[in-house]
Amino acid sequence: MHGNNRSRLSYKVAYAIRNPDRIAGYVRRRGRDTLLWLATQDHVSYYRAVMRSDSGRSSDAAVGSESRESWLRIGQLQFDYLLGHGLKPGMRMLEIGCGNLRGGRLFIDYLDAGNYYGTDISPDILLAAQRTITQFGLQRKLPHLSLVDDLRLEFLPDECFDVVHAHSVFSHSPLPVIEECLAHVGRVLAPAGFFDFTFDRTQGAEHQVLREDFYYRTETLTGLAERYGLVARFMADWEQTGHAQSRIRVTRPG
Ligand SMILES: C[S@@+](CC[C@H](N)C(=O)[O-])C[C@H]1O[C@@H](n2cnc3c(N)ncnc32)[C@H](O)[C@@H]1O
Repeated sequence: MHGNNRSRLSYKVAYAIRNPDRIAGYVRRRGRDTLLWLATQDHVSYYRAVMRSDSGRSSDAAVGSESRESWLRIGQLQFDYLLGHGLKPGMRMLEIGCGNLRGGRLFIDYLDAGNYYGTDISPDILLAAQRTITQFGLQRKLPHLSLVDDLRLEFLPDECFDVVHAHSVFSHSPLPVIEECLAHVGRVLAPAGFFDFTFDRTQGAEHQVLREDFYYRTETLTGLAERYGLVARFMADWEQTGHAQSRIRVTRPG
């Protein structure tokens, strides 16, 4: 599975033969994405427009969950994993690309009031995140939600976060966007803090599909983190969860 190159014509043809009912949807999406790309050109503006279009249909679908059951399950998976890795209520957490709080609502509920910070490039999904806070009665937890244009994290203080988390964000990011994050995340990490991110892993050629889904080799991302003085390791235990993406943890040296 990690060796499949989804951008290859042979893959697309074989997939279409196996899933004829999905051809019309793919063609529609390709047409829409081409128009959005022509109208925007830089990745963040483009992806913001994709999120606007997707969340107009359903904010759960916009973050990758076609059903509420899936939304609840993937959120729980994120939460259970970090709980098993020592998350405590008194910790401060930054979630990059928080979406409509699929995992975030559980982190907000668990952490002490004011300890959750979520950022996203999409105003539409941040409005949906506010609705999630209301829906789950989390107002008293005073979560911070911020709209961002880039991943420089300049508005956040040094050494502030015990946990930084980005689930299913780098799977939608070209390498310069990931590099920008890795160049700056070390500054906001507490000395013993960690930054976990998931990514679509390939063991073959790196590729992208519709500028929406990006596939990387593990060594590319660990190497990039190391270039910015960080320590990076592949999280083998995450593979046991059965989630389609893989996970890397980044820490400060020493
Ligand atoms: C697939 S959704 C996942 C949302 C959330 N992490 C979750 O697991 O439900 C990806 C989210 O990342 C956001 N995003 C994409 N690129 C981003 C970037 N460069 N900085 C911050 N957020 C980004 C999108 O707007 C979207 O809300």
